[in-house]
Amino acid sequence: MRLTRRAWAEPFKIKMVEPLKMTTAQDRERFISEAGFNTFLLRSDQVYIDLLTDSGTNAMSDVQWAGMMLGDEAYAGSANFYHLEEQVQKYYGYKYLIPTHQGRGAEHILSRVLIRDGDVVPGNMYFTTTRAHQELAGGRFVDVIVDEAHDPACEVPFKGNVDLTKLEALIHQVGPSKIPYVSVAATVNMAGGQPVSLENLRAVRALTAAHGIRVILDATRAMENAHFIKKREAGCADRTIASILFEMCSLTDGCTMSGKKDLCVNIGGFLALNDFAVFEEARNQVVLFEGLHTYGGLAGRDMEAMARGIEEAVQDAHMEARIGQVQYTADLLLSVGIPIVRPTGGHAIFIDARRFLSHLEQTEFPAQALAAELYRESGIRTMERGIVSAGRNVETGEHNTPKLELVRLTFPRRVYTQAHCDVTAESVEDVFQRRDSIRGLRMTYEPKYLRFFQARFEPKPAR
Ligand code: F0G
Repeated sequence: MRLTRRAWAEPFKIKMVEPLKMTTAQDRERFISEAGFNTFLLRSDQVYIDLLTDSGTNAMSDVQWAGMMLGDEAYAGSANFYHLEEQVQKYYGYKYLIPTHQGRGAEHILSRVLIRDGDVVPGNMYFTTTRAHQELAGGRFVDVIVDEAHDPACEVPFKGNVDLTKLEALIHQVGPSKIPYVSVAATVNMAGGQPVSLENLRAVRALTAAHGIRVILDATRAMENAHFIKKREAGCADRTIASILFEMCSLTDGCTMSGKKDLCVNIGGFLALNDFAVFEEARNQVVLFEGLHTYGGLAGRDMEAMARGIEEAVQDAHMEARIGQVQYTADLLLSVGIPIVRPTGGHAIFIDARRFLSHLEQTEFPAQALAAELYRESGIRTMERGIVSAGRNVETGEHNTPKLELVRLTFPRRVYTQAHCDVTAESVEDVFQRRDSIRGLRMTYEPKYLRFFQARFEPKPAR
């Protein structure tokens, strides 16, 4: 037999370590109960392997840390802003840049600038903060992703694609003047980190251009999307991720960006645009909500780390290891029969909680219950992405009931080792062995906005 497990070996070595806290089963029982069975309410020192999110949890490189020491902390016109602007122009290709404290800062400004009361914003599946800002600005989100995206078992290469028939029907139904832009996320987080193809982006561009509608990219994990295009789309195998990213962006009018993901930083984001009039209005608004247009809520050093992160993260070898680690862990889970969303996504593995806990109703919050149970088992922190995250219908007040009821195991970049991946897979398997004993939950506290962050639960009595 020949070993093949080195396929995604990391193109870096470790120079500084942070000790992990170990807890006992008894401790964890108490901690999760005190946290209202919501993994967002655990303290991080109660967690062993933290797979809650890949957002802001990445390890920066020595080059990025060195850049932090070169922070130009001027209120206006920081040198780091101009470096970031240059890098965004070079790798993403947009003309104008507005830094924001993180992705939702950019979503907020963009939504205020482009959305009017009664507008409709089509998108390839919702994302929590993106939709919340569209709704706050008076818009209504309409899902135009391909049907396959809602089926966790369906194995197609570009499950994040926009369904052009759905988009065209919507344009005819409401009229192009009611659609300020089409919101295209690459990759699609809530569908399981699924990519959009270049072919689909070109088709969306052609259709919307015919009606004078803008396309705005959620570029948060666009480099990961470019990796999947390189691997899966005909004719792209020999291209660099950088050239694919540039082409993706060229098919859109601007982007919102959470630098906390692709760009391997702990904080930061931006809004980038090609249209000067839209940029001008966004630049007017950013001073109200984020800060001056040359820092947008960030320190100079944060902008420098992000500027340097762009160049590192776009390297093919980086992405090979980053996504290789996720795939490696997913393959372990598949080998022991754990139901996960197929194909495996870029930033995370999504466990299909409906199939894992098939004895629970969706209103018993199976994904929330499973995330709590995984923590209790081994101290691994994951996140619910199901009925709790989906919130309530703004008109009827009823729970939105998404087809996907998932638990997300999200991988921070350059943080955990292959042995951590093994521990994770073994822990999920242990819980899977005794899945029938896991009880559903009852919600005891429900916040008004983005309820998944702060909601509290208690176990339902045994049936
Ligand atoms: N768009 C996508 C696709 C995201 O995944 C996120 C954040 C945002 C926008 C908002 O960016 O957090 O910087 O304000 N996703 C995080 C996650 C929170 O855990 O998936 P932000």
